[in-house]
Amino acid sequence: MRQAFVPMAPCEMFHMLDVSEIVRVYRLPGQPPIRVLDGVSFSVADGEHVAIVGRSGAGKTTLLNILGGLDKPTSGDVRLDGRSLFRGFGASRRRNRIRATKVGFIFQSYHLMPELDIVENVLLPSMTGVAHIPAARARAKDLLEKVGLGGRLGHLPAELSGGEQQRVALARALMCRPQLILADEPTGNLDALTGAEILKLLFEVNETPIACVMVTHSADAAARCDRVLKLEKGRLAM
Ligand SMILES: Nc1ncnc2c1ncn2[C@@H]1O[C@H](COP(=O)(O)OP(=O)(O)OP(=O)(O)O)[C@@H](O)[C@H]1O
Ligand SMILES: [Mg+2]
Repeated sequence: MRQAFVPMAPCEMFHMLDVSEIVRVYRLPGQPPIRVLDGVSFSVADGEHVAIVGRSGAGKTTLLNILGGLDKPTSGDVRLDGRSLFRGFGASRRRNRIRATKVGFIFQSYHLMPELDIVENVLLPSMTGVAHIPAARARAKDLLEKVGLGGRLGHLPAELSGGEQQRVALARALMCRPQLILADEPTGNLDALTGAEILKLLFEVNETPIACVMVTHSADAAARCDRVLKLEKGRLAM
């Protein structure tokens, strides 16, 4: 680990992700508003790995969903590879396109489709893109081989262990050659050894490093990242 609690990427590096003044307020009928994020700003350099830590309920998943354009902030903006996710004309379409082409998601509970075999699960992100199917299928198989599942291609997720399912999710996240991986507690359901294997794959399976923002409760996982940011009371603690 190079440094802890430094919110900005080194300024001479290209910023894959620029997060500026994100506020997210949840409003439920008859309840006082909950200000989960209260001005979160940081940046992530190309190929940099950043861990986000914080107590349960601190807003880590909320933040990750906003970074990937799955949720909208109440105010503030995210620039991914220089492009705004939330501001300007056509932001919604732009956001969908950026999400499909530049971002890979990994979740704690894998989120695999139970009725699809693992090759089809890995193919899912390319279904909405322009990928030529035979070429896409070959890439899906290649990625599954890289994560050590080449012998299980016809299997359904339910026939795999948790660690194996997370490997499928990792292959799926890499399918569209993302520039950014967003991982929400990717080792949260795994034993320490299996978790360490997944992290090794996450950081090393691609020839060139991909920027990664990883939410984690694991000190080991955080220590493998270049920087650790702590979310506390809606802000990044320094
Ligand atoms: N859709 C929603 N409506 C209202 N409140 C929400 C909603 N989603 C999240 N919250 C609230 O926002 C706060 C932050 O939730 P979030 O899931 O981001 O926390 P977290 O840091 O990921 O926690 P954990 O470590 O337990 O996963 C919580 O108090 C939660 O109840
Ligand atoms: Mg969470």
